[in-house]
Amino acid sequence: MTKTKQHFDIRPLSDALGAEIRGVDLSQPLDADTVAAVTDAWHEHIVLLFRDQDIDTDRQIVFAEHFGDVGVRSRPAERRPEGADYNASIMLVSNVKKDGKYIGSLPDGEMWFHHDMCYDKAPHKGTFLYAMELPSTGGNTQFANMYAAYDKLSDDMKQRVQGQRALQIYDFATRETVDISDDISKYKHEIQPVTITHPVTGRRALYVNPLITARIEDMAEHESRAMLDELFAFADDPSIAYEHEWRLGDLMMWDNWCSCHARTDFPASERRMLRRCTVKGQPLHE
Ligand code: SIN
Repeated sequence: MTKTKQHFDIRPLSDALGAEIRGVDLSQPLDADTVAAVTDAWHEHIVLLFRDQDIDTDRQIVFAEHFGDVGVRSRPAERRPEGADYNASIMLVSNVKKDGKYIGSLPDGEMWFHHDMCYDKAPHKGTFLYAMELPSTGGNTQFANMYAAYDKLSDDMKQRVQGQRALQIYDFATRETVDISDDISKYKHEIQPVTITHPVTGRRALYVNPLITARIEDMAEHESRAMLDELFAFADDPSIAYEHEWRLGDLMMWDNWCSCHARTDFPASERRMLRRCTVKGQPLHE
């Protein structure tokens, strides 16, 4: 297939972050200039939306591959609701059931703010989520600009977080941090800086979240809790957020190093299915 140069418009989705890319058809091969322009827009806007896309799994992966090597899921194959034989790079985010069992992951209800794969040594950079079935209401994805979350910290807090590291630990839940009084070796976990410098943009971002960050290292538990509670205030700050109301055919891609995301509740009686893949990243540093 010939690669077509696609001219597109960029329309911001909010004052905080996010932009819609209009005029790119993801079912077609993209030429290098288009990919470079989308990459620049991604680094500027953090979250990109492509509406009215008609793409199968292969095309979603081909698109993601423009931005890095496609990641393999961290959940062990035998614990994936999609089945151990299902494509290891694809997660179905879905509450749809077959024979009484979920066919996808992260099925129902609200989900707390989190950075995808922050519990990995080399946190995946990008996530690509494509809407296939949607409830009549809710199930919106909220994004927070974590550069802005860092910028808004007080000078005192910016000093206090300097050099700090945090335990990121996850057991594939949606509204529950792992109980770390338990044996943590059985959970996916990694120590990460509390703030990171984005490897491409060079900007500082806050890198903690209420779902996966369990403790600040080398700090008494009550001090760690108090600091995390203060840092998690970003999750209630609409001035740094964009909430996306999905339409069928939407593809969203976001940068996990400088944003985190959450999900609003939706009726469990209604079907919701989105297809997700990621691109790999690298170790992150303050
Ligand atoms: C996710 O966190 O990857 C899922 C977000 C969503 O279901 O909207």
